[in-house]
Amino acid sequence: MPKKIIVFGNQKGGTGKSTLAMHLIVNLLQNGNSVATVDVDAKQGTLTRYIENREATKRENPEILTPFHTPVFESEAETVTQIEQENLTNFTNLLQSLASFDYIVIDTPGNDSSLSRIAHSFADVIITPMNESFIDLDLLVRINDSTETNIKPSIYAEMVWNQKKERIMRDKGTIDWIVLVNRMSSVASKNRTELDRVLIALARRIGFRLAKGFKERVIFRELFLSGLTLLDRNVSASQVSLSHIAARQELNDLLKALNIGD
Ligand SMILES: Nc1ncnc2c1ncn2[C@@H]1O[C@H](COP(=O)(O)OP(=O)(O)O)[C@@H](O)[C@H]1O
Ligand SMILES: [Mg+2]
Repeated sequence: MPKKIIVFGNQKGGTGKSTLAMHLIVNLLQNGNSVATVDVDAKQGTLTRYIENREATKRENPEILTPFHTPVFESEAETVTQIEQENLTNFTNLLQSLASFDYIVIDTPGNDSSLSRIAHSFADVIITPMNESFIDLDLLVRINDSTETNIKPSIYAEMVWNQKKERIMRDKGTIDWIVLVNRMSSVASKNRTELDRVLIALARRIGFRLAKGFKERVIFRELFLSGLTLLDRNVSASQVSLSHIAARQELNDLLKALNIGD
């Protein structure tokens, strides 16, 4: 099995899973690792399209590094049991065929699916980006008041717990679960302070560690078309601004906090 399987997940779209996945992939490649990528959200296909765009840019800039990519679609079998079995068999076979890679990075959809659950159960690390909002927090954990005395895991946290159990039963492995707030606003707010406080209080009880994501920055939306990331030197000079430099610093801090790869 490869050194590490990293899964980006959250049962909510638009939190930055695919964008962050792409940045981690390029970081691992630039550090000399071989990286396989899997798009379990193949129907939407953001990561797949991002990598296709990168491959197109590579044709003119051969020094650009690209991962070995596979999109995976849900089984279309008749019954739920058949679907789950077929998904599990296909996914296990895929991971076995990728066993010689140093890292496998998997992007999952912003909704619950059999394939997404299976992908989570093979993770060494799960990275869950969320937006700076109590609505996003509610998808991880139900809190009834701001004292956090009365908390209940929500569907996604429960799913992660179940996959942690699956993983232990399969090979006694453990899953490192990291939650990070992404697309942060630049201005301090009461909401932000309160959200941070609640997240810190919940981390131990729910079983995740906290990291800091990116601020809300236009550059992340622009890079997609060229398939590039903040880590690529080919980002055109006109795109480099103070905001870009600050974003790179955020990225370095995040990569350090994730503690993945050499
Ligand atoms: N830090 C950020 N600042 C600004 N836009 C961002 C940031 N992170 C992600 N985005 C944008 O937010 C949207 C959702 O990001 P995406 O990576 O597709 O999320 P997900 O995979 O969770 O659905 C995209 O339009 C993306 O370009
Ligand atoms: Mg996505």
